[in-house]
Amino acid sequence: MSLPRSQQTLTAYVNGTFIALADATIHIEDRGFQFADGVYEVVACFAGSFLDLQAHLERLQRSCDGVRIPLPCSLEKMAELVQQTYERNPFEDAMVYIQITRGAAPRSHLPQAELTPTLIITSRLLPKPSDEKVATGIKAITLKDIRWKHCEIKSIALLASVLGKQEAALQQADEAFWLDEENHVLEGCATNILAIIDDTLVTHPLDHQVLGGITRDMAIRVAKEHGLTVEERPWSLEESGLTEAMMSSTTNAVIPIRCINEQIIGDGKAGKTTMQIRAWMLEAMEALRSA
Ligand code: PDD
Repeated sequence: MSLPRSQQTLTAYVNGTFIALADATIHIEDRGFQFADGVYEVVACFAGSFLDLQAHLERLQRSCDGVRIPLPCSLEKMAELVQQTYERNPFEDAMVYIQITRGAAPRSHLPQAELTPTLIITSRLLPKPSDEKVATGIKAITLKDIRWKHCEIKSIALLASVLGKQEAALQQADEAFWLDEENHVLEGCATNILAIIDDTLVTHPLDHQVLGGITRDMAIRVAKEHGLTVEERPWSLEESGLTEAMMSSTTNAVIPIRCINEQIIGDGKAGKTTMQIRAWMLEAMEALRSA
């Protein structure tokens, strides 16, 4: 790295080249732009150590396989590019974004056989939830699921999630959670959701209706390590034993949910078990700093 971190300007990786973010461009006939024909990942880095990078890269591989986009390079090479993009940007704690599209070609739904995928990587300041949101819990709404039927693929086609977030904001809420036909709570627009029901950590099982969140995995892992019972099963807000809810994502770890629609969760405060799980997760993240 040539310059001290604080003096670096924003740099993006675009198809083989590192370039000033302000000058980074993509062809107007890129299939990502015209068809949302692509996939992505968001990885957190704490003072130079990535959290679960391998798990994110393996999910990227699964997303590419799921939409038949060839991975533009090996996962080892991708890890190097992610590291280099992080190093060329000024943020100690960063959110590295990786996007792969099928490539640029004259517009046609049927892709040409031999396209060169577009690969971009950026590194931005890792957004963290405010102390207030963590202390009081967030407000959420529910919506009928209007998304496509392959939510396990981390697709860049996020229009439903954009509309969901917009609706949440209109109702002064932070997140919208999708409900299936039987009112089971699936996941949020950009988060997974977990609940404490009868002292058990409950979350929807991994299937085509939810993204396999890397943070969801971490929450389950630390909960089990500390002796909590975990159940991956469909659940609903009507269950009488429901006392806490939390949402998980790379930028949030887990944070408490205090109400969903008009329903107050538990006593309307940050749940004790939620905050305990959060503390265990932050401990693991802090340990990365000294790694
Ligand atoms: N969103 N579910 C959905 C629909 C998501 O978009 C995300 C992540 C998650 C949580 O996944 P993870 O724990 O691996 O971050 C669940 C990212 C952060 C985003 O779109 O910015």
